[in-house]
Amino acid sequence: MSPRIVLITGANSGVGFATAKVIAQASENFHTIIACRSLEKATSAISDLKKEETKGQLSPIKLDVTDEQSITEAATQVHQQFGRLDILINNAGIASQHPDLKTQLQQCLDTNVVGPVLVSAAFRDLLLQSPNPYSIYISSGLSSMTKTLDPASGEHFSLWKTYKISKTAVNMVAVQEAAEFRSTPLKVFAVCPGLVRSYLRGSSEEDITFGGKAGDPMVSGETILSVIEGKRDGDVGKLIHKDGVYPW
Ligand SMILES: NC(=O)c1ccc[n+]([C@@H]2O[C@H](COP(=O)([O-])OP(=O)(O)OC[C@H]3O[C@@H](n4cnc5c(N)ncnc54)[C@H](OP(=O)(O)O)[C@@H]3O)[C@@H](O)[C@H]2O)c1
Repeated sequence: MSPRIVLITGANSGVGFATAKVIAQASENFHTIIACRSLEKATSAISDLKKEETKGQLSPIKLDVTDEQSITEAATQVHQQFGRLDILINNAGIASQHPDLKTQLQQCLDTNVVGPVLVSAAFRDLLLQSPNPYSIYISSGLSSMTKTLDPASGEHFSLWKTYKISKTAVNMVAVQEAAEFRSTPLKVFAVCPGLVRSYLRGSSEEDITFGGKAGDPMVSGETILSVIEGKRDGDVGKLIHKDGVYPW
C-alpha cells in the first residue's frame, strides 16, 4: 500500500513539528512533507525528527505562506514528486505583537488567513486526487465568537484581538471549503491544538510556557493524528479540540 502523503506548513516548530513527529512515529503508512519558510529549516527539522525512531518517510519543502511564488512552486513540486496530496495541514501561524495596530492586524491576516486560502487553492486539485483527502486548518479556541461573548468563558476577554480576528476568519475559510466541496470526499476541519508550548508568544521561557500554563504540543499532534485516522469524522466541518467541539 502506498503511504498517504501529508503536508504540514510551519513544520519546524511547536505544534507543526510535534504533529510531524507524532505522524512519523505512528506508522509507515504516512509520508510527511515538512514545509518550512526555508529548505534549511525543513532539512534541519527532519534531522531533529530522525533523532528518534520514525516509521514514516519525511521530505523537506520550501513553503512561505506569504509568498505566492513559493506556494506555487511547492504545489508543482508535490505534483511532480507524488501526483496527489492526501492530507493538507495549514498550521503555520503568527500572533503579531507589532506596536502599530494596522500592521499587527495585517501581519496576522497575511499569515493566518490569506496564506491558508492561497495554500489550499494551490493544493486543492492534488487533494482531490486522493481517495480520502483531509484539509485541516489549525485554528484556536480563542476564535470562538460564542465563547468571546460569554463572560464566564476564558476567551471572553483577551489581549490578542488581532490574532483572534484572524483565527475567526480562518474558521470561515474552513466552513466555506466544507460547503463548497460537500459533494466530494474532502473532509475539512478547523482544529484547536490547545494551549501548548511553542514560539507563538515569543522566545523567552515565560512566553514559550505561557507562565507554566502551556501543555505538551505532542498532545496537539495526537489530536491531529486522530483526525487523519478518521477517528473524528463525526465532527467533520467543525471547530474541534482534543475533547470535543467548540461553538463557532
Ligand atoms: N501554541 C499554542 O498554544 C497554540 C494555541 C492555539 C493555536 N495555535 C496555532 O498553532 C499553529 C502553530 O503555532 P505554534 O504555536 O506551534 O507556534 P510556533 O512555534 O511559532 O510555530 C509557528 C510555525 O509557523 C511558521 N510560520 C510563520 N510564518 C510563516 C510563513 N509566512 N510561512 C511559513 N511558515 C510560517 C513558523 O516558521 P518560522 O520558524 O520560520 O518562524 C513556525 O514553524 C498556529 O496556527 C497557531 O495559531 C497554537
